[in-house]
Amino acid sequence: MKKAFITGISGQDGSYLAELLLDKGYDVHGMIRRSSSFNRERIDPIFASHPNKKNLTLHYGDLADGSSLNRLLRTLKPEEIYHLGAQSHVRVSFDIPEYTGDITGLGTIRILDAILETGINTRFYQASSSEMYGKVLEVPQKETTPFYPRSPYGAAKVYGYWITVNYREAYGMHASNGILFNHESPRRGESFVTRKITRTLARIMAGKSNELSMGNIDAKRDWGYAKDYVEAMWLMLQAPEGDDYVVATNETHSVREFLDIAFGLVGRDWNDYLKVDPKYFRPTEVDLLIGDSSKAQKKLGWKPKTSFKELVTLMVREDLKLEGLDPDRLMKL
Ligand code: NAP
Ligand code: GDD
Repeated sequence: MKKAFITGISGQDGSYLAELLLDKGYDVHGMIRRSSSFNRERIDPIFASHPNKKNLTLHYGDLADGSSLNRLLRTLKPEEIYHLGAQSHVRVSFDIPEYTGDITGLGTIRILDAILETGINTRFYQASSSEMYGKVLEVPQKETTPFYPRSPYGAAKVYGYWITVNYREAYGMHASNGILFNHESPRRGESFVTRKITRTLARIMAGKSNELSMGNIDAKRDWGYAKDYVEAMWLMLQAPEGDDYVVATNETHSVREFLDIAFGLVGRDWNDYLKVDPKYFRPTEVDLLIGDSSKAQKKLGWKPKTSFKELVTLMVREDLKLEGLDPDRLMKL
């Protein structure tokens, strides 16, 4: 039985990846941080119902705490490490830039160096991001496109990317960067734009809200489905050598288009609810992201399975259910 270690297991991607690895028969170990409030909503359903739930174990640790990382790697000796933990919110990174640099940037070197220090034989996945392309220097963005980050988060991810490349080259580690473009799901954090829209829409339908406060709705993103994207992470660690891959749908859509589809599905007009609030604008914005994932398609055999429309539909559906509403009655498909 292969053993995997996941940082950020309580996040959107961590929960889907844990399920995928349990499905494949892995012994899965995840790191969670201590919190005074509950942070296991995405993990508890796995403990409740996954057929291989006995193969999932959680451990306390923190990306700010190198000694906990060292101890966990020394004792667990995982064959695969998926490093997904991060302060992952771009807007928030402008408010807590030093913390973001520490967790999102230095967190990566703490793990890489723990691998080196403990001498374990493992493969490493770094959750790199399309935010590194920022003010894009090429359209579409691919592995060779230069980076131009536009936020403390993007800059921290550029550090994580290069230190991963450096440890691969310096110490011969099997270390890979997945440069993932935005990916969403019903498990997406509620302050990211897609989930904020579908969650608020469901609350509007339930009569609990009549307002949607947003920032820049002209921004364009390459949005895929998180469940499809965790497969690419796994495929990277099965490849004979570590490498860097763009993972994207190769399509771009504006926030406006997301609003059109989501509200259109339940016969509402978002213009009736939208309030533009300056607090959601960023000091520097990333206007356009669109990825070219042909390398991942060719070398890993990975391709996205879920279309933009299907993604919006499944998110609206799940959020309506969360409000106790019947999607089959409310949605026009
Ligand atoms: P997410 O839902 O925000 O999850 C982040 C995870 O990191 C959570 O489990 C969080 O724990 C954990 N974490 C935060 N600070 C930590 C700390 N100090 N120590 C240990 N763990 C900590 O993010 P996601 O959407 O799943 O994304 C996963 C990774 O991919 C992140 O690195 C993100 O930056 C990157 N990424 C995401 C996308 C995307 O579109 N989703 C695209 C490209 C790259 P708590 O639950 O306790 O907060
Ligand atoms: N969050 C948010 N809230 N974004 C808004 C809002 C709002 O009310 N209104 C407009 N937007 C715009 C943002 O300005 C941005 O251009 C776009 O919607 C997407 O914002 P987010 O959903 O917060 O995602 P992100 O693109 O900034 O970052 C996500 O994707 C990255 C990959 O490109 C995060 O998941 C990052 O962790 C990830 O690396």
